[in-house]
Amino acid sequence: MNTNDNNWWKKSVVYQIYPRSFMDANGDGIGDLNGIIEKLDYLASLGIDVIWLSPIYDSPNDDNGYDIRDYYSIMKEFGTMAEFDRLLEEAHSRGLKIIMDLVVNHTSDEHEWFKQSRSSKDNPYRDYYIWKPAVSGKAPNNWGSIFSGPAWEYDETTDEYYLHLFSKKQPDLNWENKHLRQDIYKMMRFWLNKGIDGFRMDVINFISKAPGLPDGPTHGGLYGDGSSFFMNGPKIHEYLKEMNEEALAGYNVLTVGEMPGASPEDAILYTDPVNKELNMIFTFEHMDLDSGAGGKWDVKPLHLPDLKANLAKWQTSLNERGWNSLYWNNHDQPRVVSRFGNDTQYRTLSAKMLATCLHMMKGTPYIYQGEEIGMTNVQFSSIQQYKDVETLNMYHEKAVLGVEKETILNSIYIKGRDNARTPMQWDNREHAGFTTGTPWIDVNSRYPDINVQNTLAEDSSIFTHYQQLISLRKTLEIVTNGTFKLLLSDHPSIFAYERIDKSEQLLVLCNFSEEPQQIEDDYVMAAIQKGKLLISNYSSQTKQTLQPYESSVYYHI
Ligand code: NOJ
Repeated sequence: MNTNDNNWWKKSVVYQIYPRSFMDANGDGIGDLNGIIEKLDYLASLGIDVIWLSPIYDSPNDDNGYDIRDYYSIMKEFGTMAEFDRLLEEAHSRGLKIIMDLVVNHTSDEHEWFKQSRSSKDNPYRDYYIWKPAVSGKAPNNWGSIFSGPAWEYDETTDEYYLHLFSKKQPDLNWENKHLRQDIYKMMRFWLNKGIDGFRMDVINFISKAPGLPDGPTHGGLYGDGSSFFMNGPKIHEYLKEMNEEALAGYNVLTVGEMPGASPEDAILYTDPVNKELNMIFTFEHMDLDSGAGGKWDVKPLHLPDLKANLAKWQTSLNERGWNSLYWNNHDQPRVVSRFGNDTQYRTLSAKMLATCLHMMKGTPYIYQGEEIGMTNVQFSSIQQYKDVETLNMYHEKAVLGVEKETILNSIYIKGRDNARTPMQWDNREHAGFTTGTPWIDVNSRYPDINVQNTLAEDSSIFTHYQQLISLRKTLEIVTNGTFKLLLSDHPSIFAYERIDKSEQLLVLCNFSEEPQQIEDDYVMAAIQKGKLLISNYSSQTKQTLQPYESSVYYHI
């Protein structure tokens, strides 16, 4: 890959590491930077180009590092700055780039800025956060926090409330304050000058709040939904352009903004290069299709035509202007093989099918640790085994309201973030080879069967399938550049699409069900007949019928 090219990230595949759960080199039960260094050869062998590190900064870990106490130092459990420098060097020497998580919608309440800010109303840092007096003896508005409870916390010292869209240990920063913005750009330049290769920006479209912070609709719940007043807020484009000029300009790096509530139209504005904001964003729309009106925990089965229509909309909307990121998994989402595939009889086949479906689309694919070996969701028997602040807050809030514990646990099994956060399964030794100590969160009990060592010993494993998909992206321009066309849009079980680049065509066929599926469409049949098979998860194809969870890709000129 030519990294002098300003668009190198269009041809890259990113691998996300959640450091706490990846590899523990010192036996304290918590993953660390040296553990990552040990596994760089493994990552290089997969063929990925970029590693995204979830936050590694000093943090009290209310939200596993997404609550930062000091942007300039490394979390003690993870290692030291010298070890980070070595990680960067070792990665670069293998041709791997590293992007960092940039969490600047909020800090920890233990950050020095917040300590100053809460100390008095006339402290110079007061305005770095969002403080308001009570209104009629109550919180300044009715917003609920994304992690349950109210979005405001009363602070006795100055008799005011501060805003926290996430946990009360994650106060929101006030981007209206230009000194705060300059401090953030300075911090970004510190990391860029170390030689990092970009940023994944945490809920970056939340940083501009609507003036007056009006109440939101309650939808029959306990709190108001303020999202329309903080998602894609009034000054978001102004701030991102400023950040680009003041921090990012001159560095040839990858930027990806995490953006709940962004539509394809918003995404074009954020990612069209002429606007000089970001390279790409993470959409949430396809991750919300198995939720009911009650939100994330109101689980409902996925209706495949909805997923197809949604992804097709993003593919076609960003075809000319802007760029897509492609993902099924991250540290906030359940494991895709359990979610949209089949994690029992067809685990290997469906994991490969899902990989194919995503990696043949237009955009930059992201692989989350363990996805490449088909790691599955976990079902802990007791709430005590869960560690995630979002899950625990929700559990307690619902339990108080009288919801049956079993019902709550069931939604956690399907949607909880700890599904993605159990330790990486390296081998069949105790604790899956992740640690010689006691892991900070229990290992998924399927590790004796599902682990890296077993996967690497198989001839045609999920891992080798990912390797092949990555190498197809490197060898065939059409995978990067081809336009996308959805086929069989109403079919309940087949996800079929074409990529088209001048006279070349790729046909991607994926069966999302455990039933064989007959192909009854003449256009698709003709494309199969004249095509050359590029990759499949079955060793032989019947062509007229897709076998359970089959994915096959045909190429023709
Ligand atoms: C999004 C992150 O991905 C998630 O893990 C975190 O809890 C919230 N933002 C708050 O930082």
